[in-house]
Amino acid sequence: MLPPFSTRGALIFLLAAFPWLPPVGAVALEADEAGLTPIERLGKRIFEDKSLSRPAGVSCASCHDAATAFQGANGSPIPAVARGSLPNSLGKRNTPTIMYASFAPPFGFIDDKDEETGKVEKTPAGGQFLDGRASDLLAQVEGPLLDPLEMNAPSKRFAVEAIRDGAYATLAKEVYGEKVFDDPDAAFEKLAQAVVAFESSARFHPFASKFDDYLRGKAELTAIEKKGFELFKDPKKGNCIACHAGKEDSRNPQDWLFTDFTYDALGAPKNPAIAATASAPDLGLCKRPGLDKLAPAGFKIDSLCGAFKVPTLRNIAVTGPYLHNGVFTKLRDVVAFYATRDTDPAQWYPKDEKGKAKKFDDLPETYRENVNVKEAPYDRKEGQKARLSEKDIDAIVAFLETLTDKQKP
Ligand code: HEC
Ligand code: HEC
Repeated sequence: MLPPFSTRGALIFLLAAFPWLPPVGAVALEADEAGLTPIERLGKRIFEDKSLSRPAGVSCASCHDAATAFQGANGSPIPAVARGSLPNSLGKRNTPTIMYASFAPPFGFIDDKDEETGKVEKTPAGGQFLDGRASDLLAQVEGPLLDPLEMNAPSKRFAVEAIRDGAYATLAKEVYGEKVFDDPDAAFEKLAQAVVAFESSARFHPFASKFDDYLRGKAELTAIEKKGFELFKDPKKGNCIACHAGKEDSRNPQDWLFTDFTYDALGAPKNPAIAATASAPDLGLCKRPGLDKLAPAGFKIDSLCGAFKVPTLRNIAVTGPYLHNGVFTKLRDVVAFYATRDTDPAQWYPKDEKGKAKKFDDLPETYRENVNVKEAPYDRKEGQKARLSEKDIDAIVAFLETLTDKQKP
């Protein structure tokens, strides 16, 4: 990308007026590139390069907008699913924030100890995408680039050539050497590594929220925020921390990523706005390519239908809509859903002819038994008292609002 006009004008003026000045580095620094290393800067330019899509016009940043914690929908008429580069192309899933994504371990099966029985079982964890289908950030880059519903680039080579012939080719050569573009496959890998370097840079994990300041002893939580935090941790109330993990005895922000990167089926209500899932339900993790090869022998892959990765709750107040299908616009509704999904399901799901709520209606009937009904807060039955009261819900929301990074850390 070219420097902003004012800077460019000033450079041209300087060069014209003082031709004896040493040549300005071919790669001018953009105002918001301060603090980035050259490889991170290269990654940022690729991340923001709209010429990599076909037709041109969509970059990673179109959907992962720095202003909303690197999440967004690229001006889609249906905010739950982002608009791609082809006319009328809409995705199938809600865009997640990619802040703190670099902390996800590579996809694999880890040991999971059942607190009650003490039995250890293998459970899937880690990876990128809501179904972990890219093992890590490096493997993830080509996904959106080549996805017809996202950037629709015809090939990796296409992207490499666009960068070779584009505005920051010199920067790529500065970082990787003059011959970087000679072998398109090797070049793609290197350029993707630069994107990963950018996504792993401090601006994607500033740990600059009120909660971080609280951990560091530099800020106090208000009474309601504190109450929300307690409910969040309480195994008999919110129990949120069971999946949106944090290390209770640690005041190190890095120990509070608010996800353990495992997978769970929540039974989100169907989002009727998403046309793509009307006929082909989104089954999540069980459809991850290659899962059968990675799973331990005898593992029931079907039991993972309906499961999606536990997302971080950092910046949650600014990253709506919520859940993999973006069915909820308001954060409070998500928390209320946790509380009353089972005690008052008619509040959340459409009703059948007999007036009974069609629970977990976004999944085919065969997979509805995969939905987690054992763990608090959603271990209740219809008519029972919810684990969280209306006031409790308000308090948890107030706590979640402390997780927003200040814009300029
Ligand atoms: C058209 C919108 C769109 C564009 C363009 C886009 N993304 Fe995404 N991104 C998404 C959506 C939607 C998902 C979730 C998809 C899924 O899970 O199947 C996602 C997921 C991700 C994830 C995984 C996050 C996680 O927690 O699992 C990363 C990382 C990511 N994108 C990076 C990128 C990069 C890098 C680019 C550019 C090469 C890019 N995205 C372009 C919409 C987009
Ligand atoms: C048993 C694991 C588990 C527990 C317990 C749990 N969550 Fe979640 N949470 C998830 C999973 C998995 C998702 C993603 C589900 C999906 O997209 O379908 C999620 C999604 C969310 C989202 C939406 C995130 C986004 O970016 O769209 C919010 C908000 C949230 N949880 C808050 C909470 C709160 C508050 C609690 C406690 C009251 C809680 N969760 C308890 C597993 C859990």
